[in-house]
Amino acid sequence: MIKIIFICLGNICRSPLAEAICQHKIKEKGLTDKISCDSAGTANYHIGEDPDSRSIEVSIKHGVPIQHKGRQFHYTDGETYDYILPMDESNMRNIIHELGYKHEGLFLMREFDAQDKGADVPDPYYGGKDGFENVYQMLDRSIEAFIGMLIEKHSL
Ligand code: 4NP
Repeated sequence: MIKIIFICLGNICRSPLAEAICQHKIKEKGLTDKISCDSAGTANYHIGEDPDSRSIEVSIKHGVPIQHKGRQFHYTDGETYDYILPMDESNMRNIIHELGYKHEGLFLMREFDAQDKGADVPDPYYGGKDGFENVYQMLDRSIEAFIGMLIEKHSL
């Protein structure tokens, strides 16, 4: 089983949405016995909380079920997960610091986005609904390409 974890700051807006999109794609592609996905935050502000209502709204709008309880990333997660995908450079720095070693599967989420490769998935928390749709589209493109890479690299 290839284990993936998506990372953002609060684990209520971007990363639970990424987890939901990834889970949905894994199901559609018949890969549920090959790939699993999860999400966590670098901060401890929203532990145990459901995703932000705006993330739930945009996910449901696109027919993607979403369910997660906020939790904080811990360095021991580095051993559990094969791929760690932070949403932005700030999350990336926090993960590198928390891990304390070079993890071979650590990549910025938008390394896999053909549009503006390597850019941040912007934090939509303080913005409006448009921001969540924008994040959804970035995640949809990035995760589609990321799963494509996994299929090829791991001969799934
Ligand atoms: P997320 O968004 O990192 O995408 O979950 C945020 C959620 C909450 C906060 C910041 C960003 N906050 O400061 O509480």
